[in-house]
Amino acid sequence: MSAFKELVFSGVQPTGNLHLGNYLGAIKKFVALQENNDCIYCVVDLHSLTAQLVHEDLKDQTRAITAAFLASGIDPRKHIVFNQSRVMQHAELAWIFNCVARIGWMNRMTQFKDKAGKDRENASLGLLAYPSLMAADILVYRATHVPVGEDQKQHLELTRDIAQKFNNDFSDRIRELGLGVAMNVGDETVHGFFPITEPVIGGPAARIMSLRDGSKKMSKSDPSDLSRINLTDDADTISKKIKKAKTDPDALPSELDGLAKRPEAENLVGIYAGLAETSKEAVLREFGGQQFSAFKPALADLAVEKLAPIADEMRRIMADTTHVDNVLKDGGQRAGALAEQTMRSVRDIIGLLQD
Ligand code: TYM
Repeated sequence: MSAFKELVFSGVQPTGNLHLGNYLGAIKKFVALQENNDCIYCVVDLHSLTAQLVHEDLKDQTRAITAAFLASGIDPRKHIVFNQSRVMQHAELAWIFNCVARIGWMNRMTQFKDKAGKDRENASLGLLAYPSLMAADILVYRATHVPVGEDQKQHLELTRDIAQKFNNDFSDRIRELGLGVAMNVGDETVHGFFPITEPVIGGPAARIMSLRDGSKKMSKSDPSDLSRINLTDDADTISKKIKKAKTDPDALPSELDGLAKRPEAENLVGIYAGLAETSKEAVLREFGGQQFSAFKPALADLAVEKLAPIADEMRRIMADTTHVDNVLKDGGQRAGALAEQTMRSVRDIIGLLQD
């Protein structure tokens, strides 16, 4: 039996502005991973319907995320960039996973609880089933690695549970059809049709917090624009937001322990480390003992240096919507061919009639 071919998959929703958390927690990793891996990066437009069904500008938001991918350095010729709704096999596999996964698994998802709020009965069924579609996004390509920010960890654990249950429930059929693949999970070697996907989470910027409140994550939905740095912010806005970022009155410590119980300080150090591609320890070695009045301007300069070229490039790319649409169309065709291969096997495993 063969082993799974290494393949990277990740997705970003076309809702609101992309911010520094999305960039450092996810997109920057996408760019790094494409050097040594085959990668598929998806604008998950179907997922965005779970929060808001009627979007005035879904098409433009989809193009804007695509432009951010390209402007950050993702190569759509060597890899695949497309929008989810073009490849209907995502929805097909999600339906099958809805029948594999249990309602209890979905009810435990913290993002569902947060997003549904108090009135859970009134949340859309799509919001509850969201992680099932996410598992389908990944597993329809039998992807082995998924770079994401920390907030997606629980969804990826659920993806592993769904893959495992499918592999177990259909183990006989998978064996009969010769579709099992060997994989190492921890110390064990197991066989299955779907890989037990590895999350790629970590580094100093896996969870970037709000600039106004170090206990809340930086988010597209925060009503205060001062809480986040948007990828499209200009240099003055970036500097202003960093200057206004909440901090405490103490100087920066020289060691990591000194950041305990100082969430705002730790967040700014993490942002610096993420942008500079270094560790928090290294940042503290350089800035330990200095006041925020010295650190913040250094951080603002670094943020402008790294982000302004991406914003410029995004604007340039967005001006040519035909090019962006062609990238998505071409990516969709290539992704669709791969997804259909998986689905032919899945239909056989389940026993659905097909030609
Ligand atoms: P989304 O669109 O909310 O966010 C896109 C990526 O940005 C990361 N992220 C952060 N990282 C660090 N700090 C933050 N404050 C921060 N905020 C967001 C997210 O972790 C994510 O990696 N469910 C996903 C989209 C999705 C997906 C998938 C991801 C759908 N299918 C399949 C991977 C694989 C989401 O809502 O991401």
